[in-house]
Amino acid sequence: MTGTESEVPDGAGAFDDTPASRPERLAALRDAARAAGFEMSCDERTGSLLATLAAAQPGGRILELGTGVGEGTAWLLDGMDVKAHLITVELDHAVQDVARRELGADPRVSFVAEDGGVWLETYDGPPFDLVFADTWPGKFTHLDRALDLVAPGGTYLIDDLAPRPDWPESHRAAVDDLLRTVEGLDGFRTTRLDWSSGLLIAVRSTA
Ligand SMILES: C[S@@+](CC[C@H](N)C(=O)[O-])C[C@H]1O[C@@H](n2cnc3c(N)ncnc32)[C@H](O)[C@@H]1O
Repeated sequence: MTGTESEVPDGAGAFDDTPASRPERLAALRDAARAAGFEMSCDERTGSLLATLAAAQPGGRILELGTGVGEGTAWLLDGMDVKAHLITVELDHAVQDVARRELGADPRVSFVAEDGGVWLETYDGPPFDLVFADTWPGKFTHLDRALDLVAPGGTYLIDDLAPRPDWPESHRAAVDDLLRTVEGLDGFRTTRLDWSSGLLIAVRSTA
């Protein structure tokens, strides 16, 4: 690869990264989110990546911290095979009820309505092949516990990392600290993606 290969040539078109397909229930979830005034669902490009990462784990064990109304849940389920299983944890019952209503018939998902920190402190089951930590616990608190639950070869994914003008300085500092901490861990291979809402992917190495 040459030093200039990654540059976009003059006159080249923009690369369209709109997802090629979307989960069947996504439109209904978006309508429900709008009706409820819920604005924290994941960006659809992150959703598409979640589906792709879930598809890489046949029979995989998957954890989502922060269900919201279930958009991320829908993407994960869309990528999972029939033997994979997802646990998704949410503090706000009313918000999670939207996800339960739209996605609860799928036997591959278990909904937990509980504080994510309490859940992380008390869970004593097997580790996960993919952890999408999309709320405070597992990201800004209880980080060690969430990372402990990543199986060898498994992936820890966090989003909403790209600085925004409306962030208080304290949040910017917390994100910097989080990035430094995860990137400094022994036994994880990490990549930042300046894409979608700003992502960090960390994979627990097996060597
Ligand atoms: C960014 S949203 C989740 C979006 C969802 N993962 C998606 O991809 O569409 C964060 C969610 O975390 C929930 N939450 C906040 N504090 C929590 C806690 N301590 N434990 C569990 N969930 C929490 C909020 O109610 C909110 O629904």
